[in-house]
Amino acid sequence: MRLGARTNLALLVLLATAFLTGWLAFAYGTMPARWSLVLHASSGVAILLLLPWKSVIARRGLARPRPGRRLSMLFSALVIVSLAAGLAHSTGVWLWSGPLTAMEVHVGAALIAVPLAVWHVVSRKVRLRPTDLSRRTFLRGAAVLAGAVAAYGSTELVVRAAGLPGRDRRFTGSYEAGSFQPEAMPVSSWMFDAIPGIDVSTWRLALAGEELTHADLLSFDDSLTATLDCTGGFYSTQDWSGVRLDRLLKGSKGSSIRVISRTGYDRRFPLEEAGRLLLATRFGGRQLDAGHGYPARLVAPDRRGFWWVKWVVSIEVDDQPYWWQSPYPLQ
Ligand code: HEM
Ligand code: HEM
Repeated sequence: MRLGARTNLALLVLLATAFLTGWLAFAYGTMPARWSLVLHASSGVAILLLLPWKSVIARRGLARPRPGRRLSMLFSALVIVSLAAGLAHSTGVWLWSGPLTAMEVHVGAALIAVPLAVWHVVSRKVRLRPTDLSRRTFLRGAAVLAGAVAAYGSTELVVRAAGLPGRDRRFTGSYEAGSFQPEAMPVSSWMFDAIPGIDVSTWRLALAGEELTHADLLSFDDSLTATLDCTGGFYSTQDWSGVRLDRLLKGSKGSSIRVISRTGYDRRFPLEEAGRLLLATRFGGRQLDAGHGYPARLVAPDRRGFWWVKWVVSIEVDDQPYWWQSPYPLQ
């Protein structure tokens, strides 16, 4: 009985850790992503290790005719799909299926599972006793975590030894796709943006009270090599050219830059970053295509793909702090 309560408690902590560290990893296009993912993957593996214990609890629960059992089954299925897709992605045994990547299935299943997880926990009374939070429980918890870190480490070793595709992934877990070959670079968007058809003869870039045409933009030739690392699980390095934002925004005063897409999608950056941001019109020496943000898209080195606003129509500078935005876009 007590073992059941402790297993459930451990699962609760692990699910919350996996969820938070997954999002934390998406917040970085730099090294902290890896540390977050080590903790993430280890908590994921720990959930897997606890499933034999959990199945004893679940069998007991299923034996009681309680309403909502179907929802518990659905919740279990989503957790298992998320675990399986996460492992499939990390080992590289399965990466794509139709329009979805394993990473999208992984995160999607986890997101749908959240309300069910809350319901599952809230509608079942988990009575904790002081002994459940004893030193012994913490030691056991630490043992589970240590076992999970070791198990995660061994999956990484197996991936390398067996030469599985997972061996070649980046520190964010992403796989290389179409680098320096613009035509082979995958097309993706954060959530619901559809590719707009834009006529450049009428397209204008609104810039701090001014308007620039596509021809105006083409007169610049700043370039940089940068890696777009998509949260869908791939990355692609390209030579981008266009115009640096500090050049466009010379003399602008304020604290942040807001870059807005034709679709309404927008992201905000600190003004100090202007010199590292590029409004690209070309990649690999050729014009951008519609899927990759034609006529102009932002290139934001060291930031994950959802910062690289496509189909830019407006760039504003104002006094709002850059962090005054949803950490992840809501559209
Ligand atoms: C990996 C995550 C989890 C999965 C897949 C899972 C799945 C299940 C299933 C299938 C059942 C049996 C059906 C039912 O009683 O509705 C169940 C029962 C139960 N679960 Fe979970 N669960 C998970 C996490 C949790 C957590 C985090 C808690 C609480 C902190 C919890 C508490 C319970 C309780 C109290 C029962 C009832 C046991 C009984 O009636 O004897 N579960 N779980
Ligand atoms: C129920 C919640 C979740 C569980 C149980 C879980 C579990 C896992 C597992 C087991 C792996 C494979 C680890 C490995 O051996 O490398 C993984 C990978 C990954 N997960 Fe999750 N995950 C969850 C939610 C999320 C969410 C919400 C995100 C992002 C918002 C996310 C992002 C990632 C990423 C980026 C990887 C790839 C790591 C790599 O390849 O190195 N996960 N996850």
